Order: sequence, then structure tokens, then C-alpha cells
Amino acid sequence: MYTEEKKKNTKYGSIFVYCFFGLVLVVGVVRYAKPYYNLQNLMETGAVIEEAFLDELSVPARNHQKLSSTVKEETRTRPPISYCVKFESFSTMANLVKDNGDKYESRPFSAGGYNWTFLIYPNENKPEGSGGYISLYVKIDNSSLITYQNEVYAWIKFLTYQSKTDTYYEFHATEAQRFHLFKQEYGMLNFLEIGYYQNPAYGFIFNGGQSVFGVDIVVSKPSATWEDASFEENIRDPVLDWRITSFSIHNLASYTSDTFSSGGRNWVLKVYPNGVGSATGNSLSLYLLSASSEKGYVKANFRVINQTPSNNVVKQVDGWPNAKENGWGVDKLVPLADIKDPSKGFLVKDTIRFEVEILAFSRTDSISN
Ligand SMILES: *[C@@H]1O[C@H](CO)[C@@H](O)[C@H](O)[C@H]1NC(C)=O
Ligand SMILES: *[C@@H]1O[C@H](CO)[C@@H](O)[C@H](O)[C@H]1NC(C)=O
Repeated sequence: MYTEEKKKNTKYGSIFVYCFFGLVLVVGVVRYAKPYYNLQNLMETGAVIEEAFLDELSVPARNHQKLSSTVKEETRTRPPISYCVKFESFSTMANLVKDNGDKYESRPFSAGGYNWTFLIYPNENKPEGSGGYISLYVKIDNSSLITYQNEVYAWIKFLTYQSKTDTYYEFHATEAQRFHLFKQEYGMLNFLEIGYYQNPAYGFIFNGGQSVFGVDIVVSKPSATWEDASFEENIRDPVLDWRITSFSIHNLASYTSDTFSSGGRNWVLKVYPNGVGSATGNSLSLYLLSASSEKGYVKANFRVINQTPSNNVVKQVDGWPNAKENGWGVDKLVPLADIKDPSKGFLVKDTIRFEVEILAFSRTDSISN
């Protein structure tokens, strides 16, 4: 039943699209001369349009000048999620609000953690520029804006009940709307033409004059936690000097230095005297590790000190962790053969010296709202 209805609407929708280009001028003129819902007027404009009005009591396609790609109209069975206003008599309400700026303002209601009111303008050209249309607005309670934060994003859908089809006609912008102290209201100036609420045959007026308007407000909550990424540079802490004595008698796979601090973060060095991974058995491997298991970017200089300073081995680490256990390092730092060869000058009194200078690293801080 619902699907069928929908199909029909689509069909007439497309007929309207085709008709529209031919009729744009005529319709335009008629619209300004008389409200669009006056079907009699449109019928007089030609045979083409007659077909479109076979189902004249359903909601006709809107004047396309009012629709942009960011505004959608739909029909649904699901009731409004945030608030509904039912008028026992639409026409009485429309008369009474003339003394109240031509608007009906609902009681405050809560949606998405904020207080709102729903505004219904049932009369012609109120607010100004709405022509023969009903206008619907929502207004955010500005005390929420003052107390909590200064802007709120929310998706707003306006609805009205059509008893004939037992569905809600929905009209909404696809983008979330931004509310803040200087923009506390948002709405549709041209929701539906007032004529639909004057003739019960359309189904928007039912049970002897009742009508229902509703709104969905879905607040987009800003993400609760943030990561603030920054880069530490110009680190002034001294170079770490790590000496391993009695190097040749060390026979474990790896050794870790004491914790040292640089740039406000704690680090350790880890050496694999006989290499690790692809370097196993051929080169010494050296890694810098974050003592607090931070990941991220690091730039550091590694040096293996030679007794002849010009022969120091210098390698730079520059990037994201490239080793297990959150480490940054160099697999093949110095060939084992060079270390073992006393004439190369890396081992002095069976002591090897490494220096590490941390130049930069990334820092991320978690921020919770
Ligand atoms: C909404 O209104 C109620 C009743 O006036 C009030 O207690 C509550 O604090 C308001 N909430 C916000 C978010 O302003
Ligand atoms: C907040 O809303 C009230 C009632 O609508 C209005 O009188 C007042 O001027 C508004 N305050 C601000 C700061 O916009």
C-alpha cells in the first residue's frame, strides 16, 4: 500500500518535472496571481497538466524554484521524533494568532540535550516573504547556548500529518543547521501552501478541522575526545652517552639502557650486539624506545663512537616506529666484523659507546570534553 503510494508519487513527480519546463512561465505567473494550490487555475493552462492532476488530491510537486538539491521532501509513516503539535481547529488557531505576530509558539521541549520551541506561522505572508505558504521554524533556548557552548549543529525535519494516506509529509534540508547566539532560529519559509489546510479533501485537515505538525531534531554531538597532535622540536636535553663495558662477554640477544629523559619524555636504548631481524649475525642493531610506549614520529641521531672521531658511525632515524615494542632504530648500524676488529677503533678496553640525540618527536594529548 505504502510502496504503491510512493510509486505513484514518484510517477507524478517525474511528470511534473517534464511538465515543469514547459509550464514554468505559466505556473510562475499563476503562482503570483493566485496561490498555487488553486487547481482550477492550473487546469485552465492546458491539457498537459491534466494528467498530472489525475491524483490531484495528493501533494503535488512543489514549485521547483523553491527546491534546491539540499532540500528534500518525502513521505513517511514514522511519527515525528522530537515534538508534535495538534490543533483541534487549524482555522481557529490561524485566526487567534493574528494577535500574536501571526505565529503559534509551542511549549518548550527538550531534544538532544537542549530546549527548543516549535513555531508555526499559519497565515499568508507571515513571516514576510512566505507568500501563500505555511512556515515552520524551530528556536533553540538561548540559555543553553550561553551556559554550555556557543554553537549547536542539528538536523531538522518538519512534518505534517496527512490523514488521507495515514502518512507524514516531510520536508527537510539535508545539511545540519548551525545554531548559535546570533542565529537561534531555523525554519522553512515555504513549507506547504496554506490552501492544503483549507480544504479537508487534501487530508491535512481531518476530524472536523484538526491538523498536526511535527519536528525531528537530531543534535550532532561534537566528538567527546580529541587528540591534539604537536611536534616537539629544539629539544635542549643533552645527548645520551651510553657505554657498555666488558662488551665481548655479553652474550644475551639484547640489552636495554637505563631510562633517560629527553624533551620531557622518558626513553630507553636497546642494543642487539649480534643484530636482529635481517641484521642477525652480521651487524649490530640499535633502537630507541619510548618508556611509556608512545607511538608517533621521532627524529634522532645515533652515533657509535670511534676512537678516531672522524670514523664515528652516524645514522639518523626519521619517521614512525619501525621496530617491535614501539621502537625507532637501525637494523644494520655497524658491521659485526668492524666492531670485532680492534684496528677499527669501536671497542676500547672492551667498551663500546653509543650516543643518542633526540631532535624531534610528535606528541599527542587526549582532550576530553
Ligand atoms: C530545559 O528546561 C528545563 C525546564 O525549564 C530546565 O530545567 C533545563 O535546565 C533546561 N535545559 C537546558 C539544557 O537548557
Ligand atoms: C534569549 O531569548 C529570549 C527569549 O526569546 C530573548 O528575550 C533574549 O533577548 C535572548 N537573549 C539573547 C542573548 O539572545
